[in-house]
Amino acid sequence: MKDEKILNYIKLQKIINPSISKNWVKWLNDKDVTKFSDQRFIKHTIKSQRKYITSLIKNNTVFFSIFYKKKNIGNIFLTKIDEKNENCKIGYLIGEKSFWKKGIATFVIGKVIDYAFMKLKLKKIYTWCYSNNIASKKALIKNNFKIEGRIKEFYKFSKNQRVDKIYLGLLR
Ligand SMILES: CC(C)(COP(=O)(O)OP(=O)(O)OC[C@H]1O[C@@H](n2cnc3c(N)ncnc32)[C@H](O)[C@@H]1OP(=O)(O)O)[C@@H](O)C(=O)NCCC(=O)NCCS
Repeated sequence: MKDEKILNYIKLQKIINPSISKNWVKWLNDKDVTKFSDQRFIKHTIKSQRKYITSLIKNNTVFFSIFYKKKNIGNIFLTKIDEKNENCKIGYLIGEKSFWKKGIATFVIGKVIDYAFMKLKLKKIYTWCYSNNIASKKALIKNNFKIEGRIKEFYKFSKNQRVDKIYLGLLR
């Protein structure tokens, strides 16, 4: 649900050289936060975080930190920016769980879409997620992403449950 009082104080800050943030490592070690991501299989440390950020940078990435007032509550990024094919992948994380369900992901995805289309002049944004990640799926669909593909039972979600991998895309 949209919480306008909170959304008024949400700002994105573009980060040129992402430094290793203790917050980020803490979020990635939180099983609730990584429940719908392969990050759940990894024990995150400052070192692994550095490696991850380095790999993103190599993959043409623009990072934004998400702030509520002065508090960093998550991040959102465009990666695999491919100028030739005019496309990129979007990824995001609201690490502070008390900020979930307030419309923040929907809001910041919208802002970053504008950046990709207007500033980077890209034509296509895509991503993928676990089919049971309802919040992520909804935040994308509310920003006009469409489900464009699916691999059935791709992920082992729990001992007895497999879930689909869904691909979502947005064309300018
Ligand atoms: C997924 C995530 C980004 C959603 O962020 P958020 O700021 O809570 O999302 P929003 O508030 O914009 O919610 C979008 C929609 O999902 C719904 N929603 C949010 N959390 C939900 C949940 N746990 N279960 C069901 N629906 C949920 C909201 O109610 C909203 O729908 P509505 O507008 O119809 O009410 C956040 O939970 C998160 O960072 N999770 C961990 C990392 C992750 O999964 N990243 C994405 C990987 S693909």
